[in-house]
Amino acid sequence: MHNNDRANFGSRLGIILATAGSAVGLGNVWRFPYMAGHDGGAAFILLYLACVLFLGIPGMISEFIVGRNSATNAARAYIKLSHSRPWGLIGYMGVFTGMIILGFYAVVAGWCLQYFFASILEHLQGDKDYIMNYFATFSSSPFKPAAWAVAFLFITHYIVSHGIRDGIERASKVMMPTLFVLLIIIVVASCTLPGAAEGVEFLFKPDFTKITPNVFLDALGQAFFSLSLGSACLCTYASYFNRQTNLGKSAVQVALIDTMIAVLAGLMIFPAAFSVGVSPDSGPSLIFITLPNVFQQAFSGMPTLGYVISVMFYALMALAALTSTISMHEIATAFFHEELNLSRRGGSLIVTAICCVIAVLCSLSVGAVSGLSFFGKSLMDSLDFITAQIFLPLGSFLTCLFVGWHIPKRITVYEFTNHGTLKGTFFKVYLFAVRYVCPAAIAAIFLHQFGIL
Ligand code: PFF
Repeated sequence: MHNNDRANFGSRLGIILATAGSAVGLGNVWRFPYMAGHDGGAAFILLYLACVLFLGIPGMISEFIVGRNSATNAARAYIKLSHSRPWGLIGYMGVFTGMIILGFYAVVAGWCLQYFFASILEHLQGDKDYIMNYFATFSSSPFKPAAWAVAFLFITHYIVSHGIRDGIERASKVMMPTLFVLLIIIVVASCTLPGAAEGVEFLFKPDFTKITPNVFLDALGQAFFSLSLGSACLCTYASYFNRQTNLGKSAVQVALIDTMIAVLAGLMIFPAAFSVGVSPDSGPSLIFITLPNVFQQAFSGMPTLGYVISVMFYALMALAALTSTISMHEIATAFFHEELNLSRRGGSLIVTAICCVIAVLCSLSVGAVSGLSFFGKSLMDSLDFITAQIFLPLGSFLTCLFVGWHIPKRITVYEFTNHGTLKGTFFKVYLFAVRYVCPAAIAAIFLHQFGIL
């Protein structure tokens, strides 16, 4: 059942750090804080936690089961387990979705790189209008943001083309602890600012009047995006797990790390924002427009500390993005490498080339070429919408049906219990969630999204 020649991760720590690296990304340090800010803070976070626990973890385990049992790329994995081509569409959709997300994600990751260097060179110093102008001028230039996105894709390419152990695992073992240390330093600096308590309260004191169906949907979408669910990424990584890996425990650990980093990101941003009286609901521009100002004002008495924090912050953002971009890149690299019989380098070059084209088009669509839009949304926003709101939930929905109902139960039991060597105490709970709770909840979101429910 297992292909012994295939690459795999070398250690349990490597598995957890690489998979958590995929989960921890701009979704945690950029999307989560602005969503929480927009949706009322603590109430949103509680719903988010419920989504991770009841839908996210069973969804992750299901992708792990498909990946580890088939030990092949995502597209072939679904065909191999079901012996039927139509089910393979889930895998193909995952490969496609991964490349699209990587394309627009690289644009924001490129912005982080630009801001990292700009903060080193002290170009982010100035009043509110200056910072706003800085972002507008930078993001609308035809060349610079696109070049940063392409540069980011090449860094990703470099790591992925070095393989699973020497590339992805080794990079994750360095990047994840660095990211964590940077995060803790900024959280401490932010939480000790005068007036920071109000920000902490915003994050932890729920106001249940804020819960609406839309907040629920946002929490669910965020949980999918943040856990990298539905894109075949977890399935691809699990194809490199070894037989001893406890799938349930790994899913819980990755979900815990991911959630902890998201909450810490909130603790890094809101106390600083509240301490200078900035509203936390400024949306996606929070990181690139609001925060440079917040750092300047909050640390105005200690400019050197402000400088260091700002540099660290953008380094953290770029690192978080990189641990995720390598995982998205790997989904398609494994596919081209195995399906077209190319070398790993060759497969990875195709992915980089395709994603560079998507990234340049996305970058232009939010800047220099405003005509690149569909139904009133820029190409970048349209791709974000179709992937996060349609393809990821759909991929996860179909995977739950696939694992819960289609494949023989003995395969599910075999993988969940590592061939009977684990007790599998929660197997029944898992099966119930994956058969009923997850598909019903995801179907409800879809219906609501299209105005039917
Ligand atoms: N989980 C990543 C984040 O939170 O930023 C985003 C992501 C990574 C989505 C990998 C999909 C994926 F395949």
